[in-house]
Amino acid sequence: MKFRPARTPMHVLLTAAEIGAGIDRLAAAVRDAGGGRPLTIVAVLTGSIVVVADLIRRLEGPIRLGMVWASSYRGAATTPGGLELHLDQLPDLTGHEVLVVDDIFDSGRTLQALLGELRGRGADRVRSLVLLRKRGRAEVGIEPDFVGFDIPDLFVVGYGLDFDGGWRHLPHIAALDPEDIAAIRAGRPPHDAAHVPTTRLAGLPRP
Ligand code: IMP
Ligand code: MG
Repeated sequence: MKFRPARTPMHVLLTAAEIGAGIDRLAAAVRDAGGGRPLTIVAVLTGSIVVVADLIRRLEGPIRLGMVWASSYRGAATTPGGLELHLDQLPDLTGHEVLVVDDIFDSGRTLQALLGELRGRGADRVRSLVLLRKRGRAEVGIEPDFVGFDIPDLFVVGYGLDFDGGWRHLPHIAALDPEDIAAIRAGRPPHDAAHVPTTRLAGLPRP
């Protein structure tokens, strides 16, 4: 997979078509690995909602869908801090084949904590799938079982991923530069030529 340079207009890292092909590949891998057994998908809210919605429609049943809520990131900072998990929306997992689905594997701490929690609930097997994995960021000894795309260490938005709650709705995945993030943080419009060249965030609407 070849990535466009980050500083092209729109900073598009993955187009909607490229993501769609990635979801096709992921669904095929999950189907092959599942051997037709019933599967409980656990969506990690909020970022995974788009990938889960697309993935489950490419799988064959029987499929159950549960969700957990996890938050490890505040604003643009992905530096590890406290990890908040809410597991009250989970169905009974006893004896079930489980697939946890998250948007991105960054430090890996979210997935590591979640796998521990879910394995403690009597599931037969708990595997994990992420759409994106950032290169060189892992701080844990685990790897997801299924990975859509390995990406450079950039802050990305779109297709469910957010910056300060915005841009989850983009059909593609785009990268934000640290300077752009700082400009947005400082309340300067990122298209302000005095601060940020117009091309750099031209394709990213304000949330
Ligand atoms: P980890 O626990 O460090 O692996 O972080 C995983 C979580 O951090 C993901 O589920 C996202 O919610 C968030 N995250 C990490 N990197 C990014 C990013 O580049 N854009 C948006 N969210 C991110
Ligand atoms: Mg998340």
